[in-house]
Amino acid sequence: MADHRPALVVRASPPLEGTIAISGAKNSVLKLMAASLLAEGTFTIRNAPNITDVGLMAQLLETIGCRVDHTDDVLTIDVPAQLSPIAPYEIVAQFRASIVVLGPLLARCGEAQVAMPGGDDFGPRPIDMHLRGLEDLGATFDSAHGYIQARAEYLTGTSVLLEFPSVGATENILMAAVRAKGTTVIDNAAREPEIADLAAFLGRMGAKISGAGTPTITVEGTDDLMAVDHTTVPDRIEAATYLSALGIAGGELTLAGARPDHMDMLVQKFGDMGMRISPDGDGLWAFAGKRLKSADVSTLPYPGLATDYMPFLVASLCLADGVGIVTENLFTGRFKYVDELKRMGADIRTDGHHAVVRGVKRLSGAPVRAHDIRAGAALVVAALAADGETVITDAEHIDRGYDDIVAKLGGVGANIERVMVP
Ligand code: EPZ
Repeated sequence: MADHRPALVVRASPPLEGTIAISGAKNSVLKLMAASLLAEGTFTIRNAPNITDVGLMAQLLETIGCRVDHTDDVLTIDVPAQLSPIAPYEIVAQFRASIVVLGPLLARCGEAQVAMPGGDDFGPRPIDMHLRGLEDLGATFDSAHGYIQARAEYLTGTSVLLEFPSVGATENILMAAVRAKGTTVIDNAAREPEIADLAAFLGRMGAKISGAGTPTITVEGTDDLMAVDHTTVPDRIEAATYLSALGIAGGELTLAGARPDHMDMLVQKFGDMGMRISPDGDGLWAFAGKRLKSADVSTLPYPGLATDYMPFLVASLCLADGVGIVTENLFTGRFKYVDELKRMGADIRTDGHHAVVRGVKRLSGAPVRAHDIRAGAALVVAALAADGETVITDAEHIDRGYDDIVAKLGGVGANIERVMVP
């Protein structure tokens, strides 16, 4: 089966009933792992999802000199006194989030060589803002042979104004500023809950940070940092995936561990479309009784509707009653999954970064391809209301960000299985 690859087979499913446990956030845990590089010692990161990207980041940390163990949902990272500050192409090419080791390596080692990350299947992914912010702190960059060579004898606190509230740039600059001399103020910073989680992790380590989760983050540099034990914030994008599955298949779900306060805008949007969602103990409860109503949706940085929610919202609109106008403002090339949804009978017209989605009553199962993590998961949820069988190939993309989507959806009644295909 060496030349066989994973695919998911989804058949039209009955209404979903039961509880799904939400895992730790991919887009937080990867950054917490990178932040561990800032201090020597043994870190424990709990609620760490079993997903491919965590395995890749573990490999990268091991290449840099750490020892990493991932048992159940607990990561243990031993960070030595001496690091080898090189992020090789073979790993960086496989997952773009690896660029967040740049800030910590520069701050800890005074130098770093990181392979250029390149694009993604949904368009170019520049890192100019990361580099400019680190330059403001005193780093210099050269590029040769596909690598960024970064140097900084020392970093000095300063004001950094981001042109756009980039998540990755905010994180790289924040992690570098933690060990800089003096005070750094990051303006127009990203405000995502995963940034606040990273700041909480760094704060536990001894960093002096205020304002994380707001557009202005202030950091007092210190060398006095230590290894810590931290629990990763729950994955709001995973929770959004299962909410959209519910909207499409109908039924009643509890998402244990989900944080509705991290997903206000999405909860409001699904509410407008006819779902009922409310906080419930340490998670949320949701109900979808009849066909959803269409709505217009437009992505923005947090607290706006996340670009990562968009594929699920579009899948939901494909089956909703009415017409929805969709605008993607962050990654303009992020509509490839639309062609796959159209193969399933969806009525969607795209023009640049806009799409018009006219809801149909049922989709029709078809062979389709997962282009990236969220695109793949959107095809899974759409297939719940597609007559017959949908076979989603290239499912390894889905495994990059979802901890056992087959068991989680299957456990609440979805008709889904994993197969290997040539
Ligand atoms: C993070 O990517 C997430 N990835 C993405 O999730 C998510 O879609 C994105 O934030 C937006 O929320 C991780 O956290 C690992 P950005 P990131 O820098 O940090 C432009 C998923 O499926 N930009 O906020 O790379 C950029 O092109 C992934 O889980 C520059 O122009 O996103 C984009 O248009 C996919 N120059 C916008 O800013 C830069 O230097 C936002 O990107 C940096 C970014």
